[in-house]
Amino acid sequence: MKILVINGPNLNLLGTREPEIYGNLTLEKINSVLLKRAQDLNVEINFFQSNVEGEIVTQIQNAQNNFDFILLNAAAFTHYSIAIRDAISAINVPVIEIHLSNIHKREEFRHNSVISAVVIGQICGFGLDSYISALEIAVRKFRGEYC
Ligand code: DQA
Repeated sequence: MKILVINGPNLNLLGTREPEIYGNLTLEKINSVLLKRAQDLNVEINFFQSNVEGEIVTQIQNAQNNFDFILLNAAAFTHYSIAIRDAISAINVPVIEIHLSNIHKREEFRHNSVISAVVIGQICGFGLDSYISALEIAVRKFRGEYC
C-alpha cells in the first residue's frame, strides 16, 4: 500500500506559526512520526508540501495509479479552491481531509470546506493525532478491516 500526504500553504511554517492554534511541532516532526507509524503498519508513505495551488493540483492528478490513498491538509485552499476539489473528483484515489485545528470553532470563513463533499471524511481538531488517525483509518479501509 502507498500513501501520499499532501500539505498546503503555510504548513511549512509549523513550529513557529501561531503555536497557540497549531501547536509546537514542525512539519518535519509530524512527517517523521507518520513515517514511523507507516513503517510499523508496513505501508509506504510519501510527503509533499507546497504553497502553490497548481502544484497541489498536479500532485493529486499524478496520484492516480501511483497511490492508494491521499491524506490532505489543503490548509487555506480548503475554503476556496475549486481546482483542488475538481482534481480530487477527477481521480479514483480516496482522500481523507485533515486539519490540525477544529475549523468549525474558528472564524466563520473556515467553517466551510469546498473539498469535504468529495473526500471520504474529514478529521480536524486533534493536531498531530488528526494525521495519525487519518493514516490508521486509510490503512484499515485499504485492508478492508473493520473501522
Ligand atoms: C488548517 C486550517 C485552515 O483554516 C488554515 O488555513 C490552515 C491550517 C489546519 O490544519 O488547521 O492553514 O488547515
